[in-house]
Amino acid sequence: MNEQEKINAALKAVSFVKPGQVVGLGTGSTAYFAIREIGKMVREGLEIRAIPTSEATRQLAEEWNIPLANINDIRAIDVTIDGADEFNSRLQLIKGGGGALLREKIVASITGTQVIIADASKQVEKLGAFKVPIEVIPFAANVVTRKLSTLNGVATLRVKDGSVYITDQGNHILDVSFGLIDEPELLAKELDHITGIVEHGLFIDLADYVIVGKGDQVEIITKGN
Ligand code: A5P
Repeated sequence: MNEQEKINAALKAVSFVKPGQVVGLGTGSTAYFAIREIGKMVREGLEIRAIPTSEATRQLAEEWNIPLANINDIRAIDVTIDGADEFNSRLQLIKGGGGALLREKIVASITGTQVIIADASKQVEKLGAFKVPIEVIPFAANVVTRKLSTLNGVATLRVKDGSVYITDQGNHILDVSFGLIDEPELLAKELDHITGIVEHGLFIDLADYVIVGKGDQVEIITKGN
């Protein structure tokens, strides 16, 4: 994991943010650098309203005095800058390593331009080396685990600091290995239909750009290239 690559990607991504926009703020160690930069731009006079994708990000945005909006009061988000745990050349992603996948996907679903930022280690030929995070309601954790095994998914209940991890919505996360995933869109559809899953970390057709730091350079990957 290269911190400078994350910073370089974040610095490039903030050029997508324009005055007057509603801006989605992602979660994680890469999004952190974009939020910090947006905070500096706000300090310099940029007027935006932001929607955070997690309580951690809300706190960070407040520390930078970035004005926040309530997602229920807006119809659309102009641009969102978020990280990813893995991405492929088709701009399909695995997200949720930081546990914020549900709000991240809700925000992405109403975003005009979704910009993903990452260091070069996140780029993969096939998704799946990183386990797919799946948010489940606690009541359904074992029901979903058994169901996932019929899809060859091996689920591990996420634990943090010795306790079961609790999301911002009070749910649990299963980290699920499916091996390397040949057809992420098909798997995503299967997961969409399992009762008890609140949301999963396969992001299909949601990213417009991936900005990846590679050494001193940044590469911008769009759907077409
Ligand atoms: C948060 O839930 C995730 O989706 C993050 O966007 C993802 O885990 C990337 O995080 P890092 O930038 O810390 O690698």
